[in-house]
Amino acid sequence: MRPGARDDYGCGTLDLPGFLLALTLALDLSHGGIEPHHHRVAVIAARLAEAAGLGPEQRDEVFLAGLVHDIGVRTWREKARLAELEVREPFTHAEEGYELLAATPPLAGLASAVRHHHDRWEGANPSGLAGAAIPLAGQLLHLADRVEVLLKDGTCMLEQVPGLLDRLRGLAGTHFDPHLVDLLAAVGGRESFWLDLEPRFLGRALEEHRPRAGTGLGPGALRSVAELFARLVDRRSPFTHRHSRGVAAVARRLGAYFGLPPERQDQLYWAGLLHDLGKLGVGEEILDKPGPLDEREVCFIRRHTYLTYRILEMVDGFGEIKEWAAFHHERLDGRGYPFHLDGARLSLESRIMAVADVFTALVEDRPYRAGLPPDRVRAVLEDMVRNGALDPRVVAAALDGGEDLRGLVLGAG
Ligand SMILES: [Fe+2]
Ligand SMILES: [Fe+2]
Ligand SMILES: [Fe+2]
Repeated sequence: MRPGARDDYGCGTLDLPGFLLALTLALDLSHGGIEPHHHRVAVIAARLAEAAGLGPEQRDEVFLAGLVHDIGVRTWREKARLAELEVREPFTHAEEGYELLAATPPLAGLASAVRHHHDRWEGANPSGLAGAAIPLAGQLLHLADRVEVLLKDGTCMLEQVPGLLDRLRGLAGTHFDPHLVDLLAAVGGRESFWLDLEPRFLGRALEEHRPRAGTGLGPGALRSVAELFARLVDRRSPFTHRHSRGVAAVARRLGAYFGLPPERQDQLYWAGLLHDLGKLGVGEEILDKPGPLDEREVCFIRRHTYLTYRILEMVDGFGEIKEWAAFHHERLDGRGYPFHLDGARLSLESRIMAVADVFTALVEDRPYRAGLPPDRVRAVLEDMVRNGALDPRVVAAALDGGEDLRGLVLGAG
């Protein structure tokens, strides 16, 4: 559907694998696009699990854990470091990933595999485990993860296989159970195992392995998974440590002010949680820059709402929600980004999100200034109304709610 076109489906049936398949794309964003590390690890691990004779439930667990295994990584620097085969000190992100998942009820069952996904077979792990005591799901992720970091795009997958297997055989008995490395060599005897990992064909393999049974996602579960991703966006910078949750809470309160039904208020909350998902595609050096951004840096910032849109577009049933989330830098006069929609195309909910984002940002500290007092917030918002950026009714509602909304921003999460 063309951005800005109206549809009236709200949030139909959502399933957890589908939601994760879309949202985890955000974990692999870079300035050059998406490098599908998490999706590939999920497929490789699921195929190893199948070859190891695991039952459907465990295979599903391994697949989903593969999708989120590096969720504890905070910075792009750390991500780059983990792409080295024999990485030193890989455990911090595994432990943080464990904690994040354990605190997210629908994903808590994946936490253990993630905690152990860098544990070495020979031991000396912070977990204290060694050999067969390491959960098998964690071992499968470990091997799948190291296979993936060795793969190079832009050259034939098959050409890489002998060298890749040699390197992994060199780690059998120290990093990996030798039997698992043999298993990889056996399933990797099929050319299709590798060719399915080419980015253009990966979607087919993901469809083949995505869990289907009993994976519905009710509103409470959706909220907690969305809150997890909001935390991932916010934890990258001390200045935004609760921005997404603040925007979500303010947007929901404004929705109530305008008399929207409770389901729609909830959807505004989810949209607020996910509105800056595309910021995972902006490097920290830009997010935390204390001074003005140069032209190149502005390009990356202006890309983030487009990324939010394209990722949320993949979530079935997120029709309008993706728009409310992704249009938060559009302006009523059509001079916003990235779609340059104008007042005729921006719904009340999109206008609410735009005001919630500005209001929250003004109240928060930023690298270049402290949070603004109420009179300065009022002045900036009223100025943005005069300039044709924000909706006057929504700004009036936000100013009316003043102290209450400030409390939501400063107290959120
Ligand atoms: Fe990792
Ligand atoms: Fe990884
Ligand atoms: Fe934004």
